[in-house]
Order: sequence, then C-alpha cells, then structure tokens
Amino acid sequence: MTDSRMFRAISFGSVFLLLPVFSACLDQDSVYGDDRPEGTDPPAAANGMIGYANVETGQTVCGNCHAQPQAMWSGTKHSHAWETLQASGHAQELCEGCHTVSQLGNAATDPSGYTSTGSDRFEDVQCESCHGAGSEHLIDPTATQPTPSIAVLAADGTYLNCAQCHNGTHHPFVEQWSLSRHATVVDFAASDPECAGCHRGQGTLLEWGVRADYEEKFSEEPLPVVCSVCHSAHDATFAGQLRFPVTTTSITLHLCARCHNRRSVPDANSSHGLEPHSPESELLKGAAGWFPPGADFAPGTIITAHGSDVNQTLCARCHVEPFEVTDEVTGDFSFLAVGHTFQAIPCLDENGIPNGETDCEVSQTARSWNGCTGGPCHGNTEGPMLLLYNKVENQIRPAAEELLALLLIVDPGLGEEGGEIDANNPTFTVAEGAYFNYHLAYHGGDYKGSATHNPRLIPALLEASIDAVEDEYGVSLP
Ligand code: HEC
Ligand code: HEC
Ligand code: HEC
Ligand code: HEC
Ligand code: HEC
Ligand code: HEC
Ligand code: HEC
Ligand code: HEC
Repeated sequence: MTDSRMFRAISFGSVFLLLPVFSACLDQDSVYGDDRPEGTDPPAAANGMIGYANVETGQTVCGNCHAQPQAMWSGTKHSHAWETLQASGHAQELCEGCHTVSQLGNAATDPSGYTSTGSDRFEDVQCESCHGAGSEHLIDPTATQPTPSIAVLAADGTYLNCAQCHNGTHHPFVEQWSLSRHATVVDFAASDPECAGCHRGQGTLLEWGVRADYEEKFSEEPLPVVCSVCHSAHDATFAGQLRFPVTTTSITLHLCARCHNRRSVPDANSSHGLEPHSPESELLKGAAGWFPPGADFAPGTIITAHGSDVNQTLCARCHVEPFEVTDEVTGDFSFLAVGHTFQAIPCLDENGIPNGETDCEVSQTARSWNGCTGGPCHGNTEGPMLLLYNKVENQIRPAAEELLALLLIVDPGLGEEGGEIDANNPTFTVAEGAYFNYHLAYHGGDYKGSATHNPRLIPALLEASIDAVEDEYGVSLP
C-alpha cells in the first residue's frame, strides 16, 4: 500500500457516510501485496485470518500498512517459529497450532488460519496470532481494530492469549507464573494511584510509556504482573523480548529493579516508613538500611559478588534460572522448569518440579539450588546451601533476636503510638532506625532473602544497631 492510500484510509474513514463507498474502492490487491500466496485472497475457511502477503520474504498483510510493527516483529523468534518447528526433526500435526497463525493466542475459538486451511500463508506466529482475525479491519481500518488482550488467566483458570501457546512440559511459562506472586494482586494497592505503578499491570504499562491499546487498558479489574508487563510483544531489542534488560548490573536499568525498589531506607514522614518495602535492589548494592551514626561503614561500600559485576544479570541469575527435570526411574525428560515461579531456591514436589511453596525445609532434596551454580558462581549446590544455612542460623538470626529483645526493653509496645518507636511521630529515633534494620533482615517473614541479597551488610547493620541501641538507651541483655 502506498502512502497516499494510507492517507486516504485515515481521512476518508472518519467520514461515516462515505464508509461503504470507501470500502468498495479499497484496492484489495495492493493491500494483500502483489505476490499474494497462490495468487488468491485468504481462503474463506481461514475465519477472517489473512496472514502473509509474501511467505518468502515474511511480509505480513498487516505489515503492508503497519511498517514499524512489521520491522520489529521480523526480529523476534515469533517470525520464524515454523522454521524452528521443521528444523527440530519432530514436526507433526499436533505441534502446528502454536507455531502458526491459528485460533490460539487470540479471541477465536473455532479452528482458524493454519488449523482450518493448512495454507503456508499462516506459517509462523504472526500479527493475528495475538491480535486476532484482521479481515474486517482491512475493509475499513477506522471502524474496527484488532485490539489485543494481554490477560493470561481467566477467572476459571482457562489459559488466555500468550498462555495458550506458552504452556506444557517443554515451556510451562503460564503454569509456573501462576504459582508466583506476580500472578496475584493486592487489591487495596492496585486501586491506589500511588501504588498502581507496581501493583496494577495497567498502571505499570502507563508508567513505562506503553501507549498502545489493549483490551484491559481501561478495565476496572486490575491485571497482575502479566507476561506483557515484563515482555514486549514486538520488540526484541533486549534478550527475551524484555521491556528492560536483565543483562545489566545497573539498578537504574534492570527490569526487576524498576519495581523492587520502593523503600530501602527509613522514611520518618510515612506511616509505614519504619518498614522496608521491596528493598532488594538497593540491598544488593549495599545502600539499604539505617546506617547508625557510629558505624564504621558507609552506604554503598559493602557489596558482595551477588550485587557486583561478577553477577552479570543480578536478580535474574538467581530468580529466573531454567533447569531440566528428569524421570527418576527412566532418566527421560519430564519437565523444563523455566524459572517463572521467580523463586531463587524453589521448593520441589515429589517429582522434582517447583510447586510454588515457600516454607519447605532448607535441604538438597526439598529445594532446587540450580540458581546458585554455573559460570563464575558456586561450583556445586551443597556449598551455597550450607553457606546460607550457617549465615542465617549462626549469625543473622541470633543477632536479629538480640536486637529485637533490646528494642522490647526500650519500647515494650513496639511501634504503638507514643513509644520510642512511633511511625506517626516525625522525630526519628535510634530505636526506629534499629527497628527498620531488624525488618530489613527479616524481610518477607524470613531471613533467607536478606541473607542472600547482601550476606555481609545485614550482619554488619544488625551488630551496629545493637551497639547503637545499647549506647543510646543504656540497656543491655542479661
Ligand atoms: C489498509 C491498511 C491497513 C492494514 C492492511 C492493516 N491496518 Fe491496522 N490500522 C490501519 C489504520 C489506518 C489504523 C488507524 C485507524 C484509526 O486510528 O482510526 C489502524 C489501526 C490499527 C490498530 C490500532 C492502533 C493503536 O494505536 O491502538 C491495530 C492494533 C492494528 N491496526 C492492527 C492491525 C493488524 C493486526 C493488521 C493485520 C490483520 C492490520 N492492522 C492491518 C491500517 C491498516
Ligand atoms: C500462537 C502461539 C504463540 C502465541 C500466541 C505467543 N507465542 Fe511467544 N512464542 C511462540 C513460539 C512457537 C515461540 C518460539 C519460536 C522459535 O523459537 O522459533 C515463541 C517465543 C517467544 C519468546 C522467546 C523470545 C526469545 O528471544 O527467546 C517470548 C519472550 C515470547 N514468545 C513471548 C510471548 C508473549 C509475551 C506472548 C503474548 C503477548 C506470546 N509470546 C504469544 C508461540 C506463541
Ligand atoms: C502449546 C503450544 C506448543 C505446541 C503444541 C508445540 N510448541 Fe514448540 N514451542 C512453543 C513455545 C511457546 C516455544 C518457545 C519456548 C521458549 O522460548 O522457551 C516453542 C519452542 C519450540 C522449539 C525451539 C525451542 C526448543 O525447545 O528447542 C522447538 C524446536 C519446538 N518448539 C518444537 C516443537 C515440536 C516438535 C512440537 C510438537 C511435538 C511443538 N513444538 C509443539 C509452543 C508449542
Ligand atoms: C506476540 C503477540 C503479538 C504479535 C505477534 C504482534 N502483536 Fe501487535 N501488539 C501486541 C500487544 C500485546 C500490543 C499492545 C502493546 C504492547 O504490549 O506492547 C500490540 C500493539 C500493536 C499495535 C499498536 C502499537 C502502537 O505502537 O501503538 C499495532 C499497530 C500492532 N500491534 C500491529 C502488529 C503487527 C502489524 C504485527 C505483525 C507484524 C503484530 N502487531 C504482531 C501483540 C502482538
Ligand atoms: C516479572 C517479569 C516477567 C514476567 C511476568 C514474565 N517473564 Fe518471561 N522472562 C522474564 C525474564 C527475566 C526472562 C529471562 C530472559 C533472559 O534471561 O534472557 C524471561 C524469559 C522468557 C522466555 C524466553 C526463554 C528463552 O528461551 O530464552 C519466554 C518464552 C518467556 N519468558 C515467556 C513468558 C510468558 C509466556 C509469561 C507469562 C505467562 C512470562 N514470560 C512472564 C521475565 C518475566
Ligand atoms: C511491574 C513490577 C514488577 C516487576 C518488573 C518485577 N516484580 Fe517481582 N513483584 C512485584 C510485586 C508487586 C510483587 C508482590 C505481589 C503480591 O504479593 O501480590 C512481586 C513479588 C515478587 C517475588 C515474591 C516475593 C515474596 O515475598 O515471595 C519475587 C521473588 C519477585 N517478585 C522477583 C522478581 C524478579 C526476579 C523480577 C525480575 C525478573 C521481578 N520480580 C520483576 C512487582 C514486580
Ligand atoms: C516501586 C514499586 C512499588 C510501589 C510504588 C508500591 N509497591 Fe508494594 N510492593 C512492591 C514489590 C516489588 C513488592 C514485593 C516484594 C517485597 O515485598 O519485597 C511489594 C509488596 C507489597 C505488599 C506485600 C504483598 C504480599 O503479598 O505480602 C503490600 C501489602 C504492598 N506492597 C502494598 C503497597 C501499597 C499499599 C503501596 C502504595 C502506598 C505500594 N505497595 C506501592 C513494589 C511497590
Ligand atoms: C545471589 C542470588 C540472589 C540474587 C542476586 C537476588 N536474590 Fe532475591 N532471593 C534469593 C534467595 C536465596 C531468597 C530467599 C528465597 C526463599 O526464602 O525461599 C531471595 C528472596 C527474595 C525475595 C523474597 C523476599 C525476601 O527478601 O526475602 C524477593 C522479593 C527477592 N528475592 C527479589 C530479588 C530481586 C528483585 C533481586 C534483584 C534486585 C534479587 N532478589 C536478587 C537470592 C537472590
């Protein structure tokens, strides 16, 4: 399609009465492209799917007008999913729906596109795989648009959109994601504009400058952190089509750090200011916590390998680590864990598959430690397990319990109004700083995360806090 036709489509389309005339004179030939597959319009059986204008060059009909999405999409793996399937040597009919334009991934329910026609114009995961059938849009682009939906789970558990293809034992993204906390919504946070940028999928996309329309954009129902929050549908600039990179040690650039960075230091002006709120990014960089006046270390100076250039992908290295599960008896492949429970040391079921639980024991069999090994990291899985166990049980837990006991002497009400620790009183006290550090160590109701995110800073902050409380209030434990 030429630029002048595009111009006509836009200007004529806004005049309602001219619409029938406009659609009648739209030159279908040039929209479909001069090299139409088999020299025909799409078969009626395609259920409104249009597919390629040119199978050889990978030019979609949609892309004849939408040049930028076409150029971006052609750089994604979706654009050669058919070739991947054929090259695997295992291609068979049951594979085809997910490697072509079909009823999977969009609103269609009846066999469509490749599934109903077998035509090569529907090979690969093209525009309509996600946007749905486009033939009506083509007749009059201004009247209806194939707006994509980005929800992945229906209320009854049915898989939607991306999830209709990204599932199964070889790529169980939606199964794993639905076990993660990214699949849940904290309702009161999702409905508060101050929190929506991280706690409501629509709010995050707005904050990140995604202006395109999608079905749920103006819905009252909050989306959790769905696939399309982290992944771009078209843009392969960053590995894995992520919206921001994970291949960086900078916490201003890193994808995960864009949300996991709410409050890492005490805020005397907030009613919750004495407890950390997703402090992980700054903790990795040694900058989280209250640094007591007498401490002999400064913010940003205590950084371990976990938060340094040794660990090239920061959070993703530990929390998004794929590993293969094999059948204990036969040794055959049974499941590819794709790291989408986002747990660093996931609890496993009896078959060795992550089950989404968080409170299983710290042992070699109850959890996977694959996130700790490989490359410049730990040489085996036993070492990091023992390091973590010893760090928590022999160092951090005893220090945290001692600090808490001291704070209970200073302020028996712990945080109740009028005491030494009172978030509603803007005067910041030593006890309040120490209380913050206690919660930083115990973040998430456990010590394992903080002990791993910065195994040297947490013990140092606890020791310095104990000293500061003893000095300031003249208290000590028997
Ligand atoms: C004949 C040219 C043409 C073709 C072919 C075409 N479109 Fe469009 N499309 C347009 C125009 C023009 C608009 C803007 C209409 C408006 O704003 O009223 C549009 C709008 C859209 C929008 C909404 C854009 C937004 O910012 O939200 C989407 C999504 C879209 N098209 C997807 C597709 C898909 C998918 C296909 C292939 C099935 C396709 N288009 C084929 C011309 C075309
Ligand atoms: C019709 C099935 C289908 C739908 C719908 C679909 N995908 Fe895919 N996706 C695939 C297949 C098949 C591949 C592998 C292609 C290959 O390797 O050749 C893939 C690959 C990917 C990759 C890997 C990219 C890389 O560089 O490693 C990402 C990320 C991805 N899809 C995300 C998404 C997201 C997000 C959605 C929803 C907005 C989605 N997909 C919808 C089938 C689909
Ligand atoms: C339920 C949808 C679905 C079905 C059915 C399906 N695939 Fe895929 N396939 C995908 C998705 C999604 C990816 C991308 C996974 C990723 O990037 O991690 C993919 C990736 C691949 C890849 C490249 C990555 C890899 O695992 O090596 C090959 C090869 C492949 N599929 C072959 C097959 C074969 C052969 C079959 C049939 C036996 C098949 N697929 C059936 C969805 C499917
Ligand atoms: C994997 C699913 C998927 C595929 C494949 C895909 N899209 Fe999209 N598209 C989306 C989603 C989801 C959005 C909403 C914005 C976002 O998530 O970035 C979107 C947005 C758009 C928009 C509005 C963009 C804007 O910048 O305003 C257009 C136009 C569009 N797509 C056209 C296309 C065309 C043309 C193709 C094929 C060349 C294509 N899409 C392939 C899922 C997809
Ligand atoms: C919280 C952010 C986040 C969410 C939500 C998320 N992903 Fe991912 N995804 C990642 C990261 C990080 C990677 C790793 C990329 C890398 O290492 O290059 C990844 C990798 C992938 C890959 C590529 C794996 C490969 O072969 O390289 C696919 C496919 C994928 N995700 C699909 C999905 C799907 C489908 C969903 C929704 C069910 C989803 N993701 C939800 C962050 C996310
Ligand atoms: C769009 C914002 C956003 C992004 C990006 C994001 N997260 Fe999250 N994450 C959240 C929110 C919000 C929660 C809590 C959700 C809830 O409890 O309802 C959460 C929860 C988690 C949890 C569970 C915490 C617990 O206490 O069990 C882990 C682990 C996690 N995220 C890791 C990651 C990793 C790793 C990345 C990058 C690959 C990432 N997140 C990217 C917002 C985000
Ligand atoms: C900058 C991003 C960001 C903002 C803004 C944000 N949060 Fe969070 N919040 C997170 C992340 C990430 C987590 C999960 C990780 C963690 O707890 O360390 C979380 C966790 C939570 C949790 C615990 C969830 C659970 O399942 O236990 C609650 C409750 C919460 N936030 C409420 C709020 C409220 C209320 C606001 C607004 C006043 C808010 N958040 C603003 C990022 C944010
Ligand atoms: C060196 C590995 C490693 C790195 C790097 C890492 N984590 Fe963790 N993280 C862990 C471990 C181990 C746990 C404890 C898991 C458990 O209790 O099951 C954890 C726990 C968490 C939790 C749960 C709450 C808590 O703090 O206890 C969140 C949220 C989290 N990490 C997010 C992140 C984010 C975001 C990043 C990057 C800024 C990151 N992590 C970097 C290993 C790591």
